[in-house]
Amino acid sequence: MLFDFATLPPGEGYKLMVSTVVPRPIAWVVTLDAEGKPNAAPFSFFNAFSGNPPIVGFGCGPRPEGSPKDTLANIRRLGEFTICLVPNALAQQMNITAADFDTGVNEIEEAGLTAVPGAKVGTPRIAESPVAMECALHQIVPLGGHNLILGRILAMEVRDDCVLDPAKHYIDTPKLELIGRMHGRGWYARTTDRMEIPRITPEQWEEQKRRRAAE
Ligand SMILES: Cc1cc2nc3c(=O)[nH]c(=O)nc-3n(C[C@H](O)[C@H](O)[C@H](O)COP(=O)(O)O)c2cc1C
Repeated sequence: MLFDFATLPPGEGYKLMVSTVVPRPIAWVVTLDAEGKPNAAPFSFFNAFSGNPPIVGFGCGPRPEGSPKDTLANIRRLGEFTICLVPNALAQQMNITAADFDTGVNEIEEAGLTAVPGAKVGTPRIAESPVAMECALHQIVPLGGHNLILGRILAMEVRDDCVLDPAKHYIDTPKLELIGRMHGRGWYARTTDRMEIPRITPEQWEEQKRRRAAE
């Protein structure tokens, strides 16, 4: 079935996208409000876009009545934010921080989590999260209703027991037990079902084809 985005009512294309672009990593974005109080919310329109410079980004939509979400307003004001990642053990707490709280509510406290100071930014990180990326705002790209917020990573805090080799910067990724967002408003995936596919050279591919033809 072909869905023609030129004729789809607004909002329907969104449904097709979030039902098919899965699983999506989740950025648990911490910002500071005008009074210096922490604010946290999850964003699954999230990914890494450049290794050098190290750029990550997430898409922030409007509130239902059209005003900007606190996360975007805070980043516009301060020019920094911290992205924490979400392990399976913190899925429920992450969901609490997504509730539509009034501006000024500290979602980190509401969810029973701990805010600890950042190393390079004034924004705290969530202590219970195994990875925190401290970011300086790189660019906000307006995309109509959404804004793509790009941040340059200044420092990354990784829980000690998840670092395999600090000198080589090897991380024990399975140990992070991160979750991804699936379809609909409430489905998630664990990253426990993995498979390894080694990269191949063109020569190895030709060899594989020769072997298959000879079978
Ligand atoms: C798993 C998950 C992923 C979400 N992803 C996004 C997203 O990519 N973009 C967005 O605008 N809102 C997303 N939301 C909704 C926001 O988290 C929610 O609107 C939140 O209240 C915004 O908080 P704020 O006003 O403090 O910024 C997501 C919610 C959940 C539970």
